[in-house]
Formats: sequence, C-alpha cells, structure tokens
Amino acid sequence: MLTVDISKAAPFLSAPCEDALRPALAQAAKWLQNGGGKGDDFLGWVKLPEAYDRDEFARIEKAAAKIKGDSKALVVIGIGGSYLGARGVVECLCSPNYNLRKKDTPNVYFIGNGLSSAALREVYELVEDVDFSVNVISKSGTTTEPAVAFRFFKALLEKKYGKAGAAKRIYATTDRARGALKGLADAEGYETFVVPDDVGGRYSVLTAVGLLPIAVAGVDIRALMEGAADMMKLCREDGYSNPAWQYAAMRNALYREGKKTELLACFEPSFRFMAEWWKQLYGESEGKEQKGIFPASVDFTADLHSMGQYIQQGERMLMETVVRFEPDDNQMLVPHDDADGDGLNFLAGKTLHEINTQAMDGTLLAHVEGGVPNMIVRAGKRDARTLGELIYFFEYACGLSGYVLGVNPFDQPGVEAYKKNMFALLGKPGYEAMGDELRAKLAK
Ligand code: PA5
Repeated sequence: MLTVDISKAAPFLSAPCEDALRPALAQAAKWLQNGGGKGDDFLGWVKLPEAYDRDEFARIEKAAAKIKGDSKALVVIGIGGSYLGARGVVECLCSPNYNLRKKDTPNVYFIGNGLSSAALREVYELVEDVDFSVNVISKSGTTTEPAVAFRFFKALLEKKYGKAGAAKRIYATTDRARGALKGLADAEGYETFVVPDDVGGRYSVLTAVGLLPIAVAGVDIRALMEGAADMMKLCREDGYSNPAWQYAAMRNALYREGKKTELLACFEPSFRFMAEWWKQLYGESEGKEQKGIFPASVDFTADLHSMGQYIQQGERMLMETVVRFEPDDNQMLVPHDDADGDGLNFLAGKTLHEINTQAMDGTLLAHVEGGVPNMIVRAGKRDARTLGELIYFFEYACGLSGYVLGVNPFDQPGVEAYKKNMFALLGKPGYEAMGDELRAKLAK
C-alpha cells in the first residue's frame, strides 16, 4: 500500500506542522466525508470507488470489448478533466509508445485537447483508412475544443460507415441530461455514459470519462477501482496514519514558509501524463483567490540535465514530491564489455532499477542539501491497482489541502475568462459588444 515519507521535508519547517494543522485537517476531512464545506455538491468522487454504478461499469466493459473487436483505433476526444486522467493511466501502464507497440488492442489517439490544425489533421490521417471508433467526452457538452474536433471525426465516420453505421461507433460520455452533446447523442442514437453531476472534471478519471478509453487500451479497470477502494478506506481515517493527511499537512506547511511551487517528479518517463493530470487537479483546485501552490512537473533523470541546475541552485521557492514505484519485472541488466572502453564495467550485471534507485537517492540528497524539501510517495508496482491507489490518494489529499488553504477545491471560475474572450473574438452570437471592446484593446 502507498506510503508517504516526509522525513526529508520536515527539517525545512520552523516548527512541526502535525499538531498545528490537525484541527484544520480534521475539519477538512469532515467536510469531505459529510459535506458542509465549500463546493460540497461536488463530492461524488469521495465514495465513488465503492458507490459506482455497477450497471454502467458493465456497459463500459461491453463497449470496450466491442471497440476492441471492431476497431483498429479509438479516437478519444476531450480536454482538461475529460482527457488527462485517461491519457495518464494509458501511458503509465501501457507506455507512451503504446500506439507503436505490437498488441491486440486498438491504438488510442487523444484529440480535441487543443485547437491545432496540424494535430487534428495528423490523427485524422492516421485513422482515415482503418476501422475506428470515437469516444467523445465532455461533462458540459459545450466545450469548444472537443466539439470542433468531434465535427471532423463524426463526418469521417459517417463518410466511411453511413449515418447509422457511424452511430454504432460513437460513444458519448457526458452529463446525464443536459448539454449539446447529450442532445446530439440522443438524437443520433449514440451509446452514452454519464459524468455524474457531483463529480467535477478533474476528479472524474474513475468514472466512464477515464474508464472507457483505459479499458480499450487493455488495462484491468476492475483492479484500478479496487486499488482506489483500498485507498478510500485508508483515507477515511483521521490522523497521520493516513498518507493523504501527511502529504496535505506538509505541503501546506511548506507553502506557509514560502515554498510556493511544487515539483512532481518521477523517474519513470511513462508517468509524464499522470503528472499532467496531477497538475490540473492541484492547479484548478487550489489556484484561486490569489493563493495556491503552483504545480509543476519534471521527468527524471531526463530533466536533471535541463531543469536540474535551477532545482539545485535557483530561487529557493521549490518543494519536490517524488513518486517512486517498485521495480517492474523483466529488468534489463547492464552487459559486461571486455574492452570496457566506456569504463562502465563497474555497472555490469546491475539492473537498470538498481541504477535508477541510486540516481533517486543521489538526487534526493543533492536537492535537500540544495534547499529543496522532498516528499516521497512510495507506490507499489506500476500496475492498475497501484494507479487506482495513487489516483485516489492524490484526489483526497487535494480536497484536504484545498480546504486547509481556505479555498473551494471544487470550482474553477478562472477557466471561464479565456473562453469568454475567445467567443467574443470569434463573433459568437450574444458576445458582439464584448468583441468590439476586446478588438479595441488588442489594437492599442
Ligand atoms: O476541470 C474542469 O472543469 C475543466 O478543466 C474541464 O475538465 C474541461 O474544461 C473540459 O470540460 P468538459 O468536460 O465540460 O468539456
């Protein structure tokens, strides 16, 4: 089971934080478990690993099996919370090179997470000549980026399979009753999955939002939910035996001492999109009311050769959280070389994991000595169960942390600002006056 080691962060505090933060954490835990805090209409994720809709889960497994049977590719259309978790899990468990690997599951392409013509065209061309399906995901059902992308892939499917054939290959994950996507899905007869009303986008990876694409990539989604359920039980406990309490307390205490940026690091490159998911989770939950730790991420050891200089000696406003996994099976052994021209025979016979571990420990000591407090999240083997634990741990700690910070961890009012400007500049009906105002500002 996942544990948190804060021993290399605690010395950076001017006073121990456990007792000082206990009342705030106990209050935050009460709000998460029973409601009563800010944003408590978005707590559906707290009990989700136990209380999820079993019938829908069975439909997700059935849909995944059908897609595996009739498609060489699945195009997953979504952005933000409707994208990052699924990509994080697929890349972490199936590899960032998943689409290039020999396998008996479909390629999975993520699109609709931006407005780049080049990115859209590339995926379009990759699936144009193969059998494919689409999972369009939008809780609101009105987000511009995925809606625009969906137009293209819907038209392509209809061209390939006819309207009725296309409808059998489109899966819509959206609100139970509201929004343009729900209306379209009902009108066209797409199979739909629900983003529950009380689960916000960034907390939705364990709903159909994440589960369908993850299952199509061949991940055991039952194990994922079981891992999350195990962690949910642990997180229910009050006190510092709960790893989410430890993490939330330490990062809040460090923030109060001027450590305003948190780097999430991992020595497994496949973790990159899990870190992107984490950045949205913490950034959107805490970054408001002119406060909040800025969440950033680094891939080690690669980024030790680019960001390492700053981490070691730049401005001292950093804290670092390192996710460590137990070693994968099938470790590569460094080969012996008789000539030893590169002088590496001292490593011959060692596994890459052994070397990576020394890199982790060496980095830990260097960064701590350089003034960067370090927290270690020790996770199990990189498998579905472990990722379920990790996802729930980070979600729960985020809810606690946001409440301790004093913000509503479940809204995202700031996300609207760019959307309104974009609509006004694009001439969306109803935004005409604002459009004139913005154009005048741009011309100054
Ligand atoms: O967390 C959020 O609410 C946002 O980042 C959303 O996930 C993102 O904007 C996508 O929204 P939707 O699922 O409604 O298309």
